[in-house]
Amino acid sequence: MKNIKKLVLLMAILILALAACSSPEVAEPPAEEEPETKTYEDMVLCYPQLGAESDWRTANSASIKQEAENYGIKQLIFSDAQQKQENQISAVRSCIAQGVDVIALPPVVEDGWDAVLTEAKDAGIPVIIVDRSVSADSSLYDVHLGSDMFLEGQRAAEEMNRLLPDGGNIVELFGTVGSGAAEGRADGFRDKLNDNITILDSQTGNFTRAEAIPVTEAFLKKYEGQIDGMFIHNDDMAIGAIEALKNAGIQPGDIKIVSVDGTRGGFQAMIDGWIQADVECNPLLGPQVIEIALKLMNGEAVEPEILTNETVYYPEEAADLIDSRQY
Ligand code: AHR
Repeated sequence: MKNIKKLVLLMAILILALAACSSPEVAEPPAEEEPETKTYEDMVLCYPQLGAESDWRTANSASIKQEAENYGIKQLIFSDAQQKQENQISAVRSCIAQGVDVIALPPVVEDGWDAVLTEAKDAGIPVIIVDRSVSADSSLYDVHLGSDMFLEGQRAAEEMNRLLPDGGNIVELFGTVGSGAAEGRADGFRDKLNDNITILDSQTGNFTRAEAIPVTEAFLKKYEGQIDGMFIHNDDMAIGAIEALKNAGIQPGDIKIVSVDGTRGGFQAMIDGWIQADVECNPLLGPQVIEIALKLMNGEAVEPEILTNETVYYPEEAADLIDSRQY
């Protein structure tokens, strides 16, 4: 009897052991969820444009708006800050509150962005700094896409050196004070300018035609007969300056002008003999902004600094190229 009991117990243990082996209760790992890949149709992009001060800016705005349509993004939130930083900051805050996917910011000036960029970062919204640079720490934004303004200034100086081989006196029509574009160009220009060329004066025309006119008139009055050349930070100011030169009876080429942008207006002024070299600054950044924005939405790696390849244009080629200019 004892043996039977033992046998039954043994068999029970065996059955249990076999059962345990044949149907192991191994916990299935939870199925990993594939992160959803975002497309252009998902994108809500914020573009708080700094203003409408120049043909360059108009072309930049048009490029963003046109490409937002071409790429078929869900929504472009576009605003115009009228060259006022406080308006741009309010526009960025409004975009953060609306929970946009990406902010692409062309900053009017370099300083003063830390607080609002920190707010965007805390909200988890990627930021592309477009065109001009900011002085904020690079950890506060994802990418800077734009021109190398220092290099543009260096190129302008090389042209002025070529135009005034025996030296001379020049004046500078400065862009917006504190902007990455103007400060970079001014620094680059001084870096390469020959020692025998003297900058008599430098005044801002705020990148606009209207403000360039009285500044040039004042230069002509103060330095009558002394000005050999002008370094002008953009084509719109060059066109304003040319109007003042014409009114003062100055002939094309009497004062050598080096300008920046390469707009159609700048090309026409080269054809007419007023501008002797035009350093390119390309505003057609729409496709890059939108492609970078999508990468950032999908957490893809992007180069922290993407600089545009640019050149210098001359009067000899202006007539052939003007019709193909897109801005
Ligand atoms: O930041 C780019 C500059 O801004 C352009 O050279 C000028 O035309 C514009 O206003």
